[in-house]
Amino acid sequence: MNLDNRTILVTGGAGFIGSNFILNFLKNHQQSYLINLDDLSYAGNLKNLLSIEDKPNYKFIKGNITNKLLIEKIFSGKLESKGVPVPDLVVHFAAESHVDRSINDSFPFIQSNVVGTQVLLDTAKKYWENFDDHLFVHVSTDEVYGTLGKEGCFTESSYIQPNSPYSASKAGSDLLVRSYYETFGFPSIITRCSNNYGPYQFPEKLIPLIINNILNKRPLPIYGKGENIRDWLYVTDHCDAIEAVVSTGRIGEVYNIGGNNEWKNIDIVEKICEIMDKKMAWDFNSKELITFVSDRLGHDMRYAIDANKIKNECNWEPKYQFPEGIDSTIDWYLSNKKWLEDVTSGQYQLYYDAFYQKDLD
Ligand code: NAD
Ligand code: TYD
Repeated sequence: MNLDNRTILVTGGAGFIGSNFILNFLKNHQQSYLINLDDLSYAGNLKNLLSIEDKPNYKFIKGNITNKLLIEKIFSGKLESKGVPVPDLVVHFAAESHVDRSINDSFPFIQSNVVGTQVLLDTAKKYWENFDDHLFVHVSTDEVYGTLGKEGCFTESSYIQPNSPYSASKAGSDLLVRSYYETFGFPSIITRCSNNYGPYQFPEKLIPLIINNILNKRPLPIYGKGENIRDWLYVTDHCDAIEAVVSTGRIGEVYNIGGNNEWKNIDIVEKICEIMDKKMAWDFNSKELITFVSDRLGHDMRYAIDANKIKNECNWEPKYQFPEGIDSTIDWYLSNKKWLEDVTSGQYQLYYDAFYQKDLD
């Protein structure tokens, strides 16, 4: 599908990956119109998008993807009178995204990730009379495959064996997307990416949490022995991969996305400590803050991705090497300490709650 002259609905566009995607997309596709639908939960932040908020081809709508009335308004054309065209492309990021939160309370994960996806699928199916030249990209995670031992990688045909309530809710949404393709021929593609890092990530996830805690000289919590392994991908590489899939991916397919960049948690934390100590030039060894804490329940041991399918079919490979990516990520957080303070104090939420009284219904 050609990405120019589109109306694209991005869900969850005020979150980490969604913000990066929107900034990238609007830079590269100025002839397209982009609707950002986000309910501005704790992880959503419009300050990420200040540089594009006045663009005539951009519209933010504060709303929840489970709100059927609102989603109907968007797809039925009821907002056309307000200058908002009907989307012909959906890139669906909106989700509760943190494993630890899902262990504490899985309810919002089922609501947003499963029910929200069902509402979007059903409404798009209803109003997209002709499936040609329409596409729904469901942004998922490698965590739906469960965990790996020391060897091997997840491929697109690996079993779906989620271990956390988060990954189970994402797997549920993946299976719904698959079923809409198989049952109705609904034009969808699923992407499954490994761990992202980069600017605008909420500091509850490992990398920004460690950067923020070093800055504040707080303990650096390492779950268990720190031997769990994740594959890390720079966020704009993920955004480029999604664009590549929209352009040349095949309907009904799954594409894995990965960085070929595996790190043990303890090693990546120590690496961040070394870079931060050098940059801050302080008389302080931040590794002293490392604190081993109780392991996460059901903690997946290792994730690794075989990304050959997207490489061969969509001509995508990561551009960022890890040393460059982590360096610019740390620089971004050091230049945006106010952003860190504000998101961790819940400051924006108070503002948004007062400003946007309710959904557009
Ligand atoms: P995030 O938590 O930073 O952002 C999620 C965004 O979705 C937030 O802006 C939030 O306000 C919004 N949202 C949540 N529930 C909503 C609802 N019911 N209605 C409307 N908006 C809602 O998450 P992220 O890290 O940017 O992840 C985006 C997507 O990518 C998710 O689907 C996640 O599963 C997937 N993913 C993330 C990673 C990663 O490493 N972060 C890796 C692979 C896949
Ligand atoms: P996280 O960023 O939460 O991503 P995910 O669980 O989706 O992979 O965690 C990455 C890894 O870091 C994971 O193995 C859990 C571990 N971790 C810690 O050791 N300490 C922490 O404080 C956090 C948030 C994560």
